[in-house]
Amino acid sequence: MTDTLLRARNLVKEFTVSGGGLLGRSGRFRAVDDVSLDVRRGETLALVGESGSGKSTTARLIARLIDTTSGTIEFDGREVHALTGKALHAFRSEVQMVFQDPYSSLNPKHTVERIVTAPLVYQRRPIPGGARAFAGALMERVGLDPDHAGRFPAQFSGGQAQRIGIARALAVSPKLIIADEAVSALDVSVQAQVINLLRRLQEEEGFSYLFIAHDLAVVRQIATRVAVMNGGRIVETGDRDTVFDAPQDPYTRRLLAAVPRIRPEWDAARRRNEQARREREEAEL
Ligand SMILES: Nc1ncnc2c1ncn2[C@@H]1O[C@H](COP(=O)(O)OP(=O)(O)O)[C@@H](O)[C@H]1O
Ligand SMILES: [Mg+2]
Repeated sequence: MTDTLLRARNLVKEFTVSGGGLLGRSGRFRAVDDVSLDVRRGETLALVGESGSGKSTTARLIARLIDTTSGTIEFDGREVHALTGKALHAFRSEVQMVFQDPYSSLNPKHTVERIVTAPLVYQRRPIPGGARAFAGALMERVGLDPDHAGRFPAQFSGGQAQRIGIARALAVSPKLIIADEAVSALDVSVQAQVINLLRRLQEEEGFSYLFIAHDLAVVRQIATRVAVMNGGRIVETGDRDTVFDAPQDPYTRRLLAAVPRIRPEWDAARRRNEQARREREEAEL
C-alpha cells in the first residue's frame, strides 16, 4: 500500500460555452488546465483560490461527477474514469462529498435517519443494528442529539445541518472526503466548531480530506498541505507552513496579502491589553 491515496495527473476540463458576447461566438473554455495533485493517506490537502479558479470543477472530476477532457485520476491504485460495475459502485462510497449549502444538499422531505442511512441503502448494504440505531450513533459522533433522528433538515441550524451532511459522508466509511467550501457559509464561531469536528473525525478514522476553500484563515486551521489554484491551474503546492510563511508564487503572495492577518477589533483589544499590562507593571515597581 502506497502513501498516496489519490494521484491526479494533467487534468483538463473544457466546457463548451455558447454564444454570448458581441460576436455571439461559441467556443471551448478551459475551467481546469493541466492540474496535477496528490492526496496522501490520512492528510488534508487544501485546494485554495479565488472564486472561479476551477476548484469545484477539479473536485467534480475527482469524484467522477463529470467526465474529464483529458488526464488521469488514480484512486487507491485504480483509474477512476475507467471504473465500471462493482468497482465503480465501491468507488462511489469510498469518496464522499460535503457541500457548501447543507440545506440544498440534504433532501428537505427526508428525515435525518433516512438521509444519513441513504448511502448504505444505495450501496444495498445491510444497516448494522437497524436504521434508527445506526443513524443515532452517527448523529452522536457528529455532536447531534440522536433523539432528533426523526426531524427534517429545516428543523436544524446551519451548523447542525452541516453536521448531518458530515454524518451522511461518514456512513459508508470513506477513504476520501471532498469538502467543497463546507464551512464557508457558517458563522465564524460555528465554523471553528465544525472544523474541530472534521479534524477529530479524521484522527479517529484516518481518512483523507480534499478540503476546498477560498478562506485562507480556515485553511490554515486544517490543512496538512496546500495547493493554490489560479485560472484553472495549480500555481503552487507545498506544506501548509511553507505556503503560508514562505510563498513562492506571486499569485499566492497576493492571495495571502489580501487576507487581514488580524481583525482590527482584535488589534485594538490587543493594544488595550498591552497598555493595561504596562500600567500594572509600572504600578508594581
Ligand atoms: N458546467 C459548466 N459549464 C460552463 N462553465 C462552467 C461550468 N462549470 C464551471 N464553469 C466555469 O468554470 C470556471 C471554474 O468554476 P469552478 O470550478 O466552479 O470554480 P471555483 O469552484 O474555484 O469557484 C468558472 O469560470 C465557471 O463559470
Ligand atoms: Mg466552487
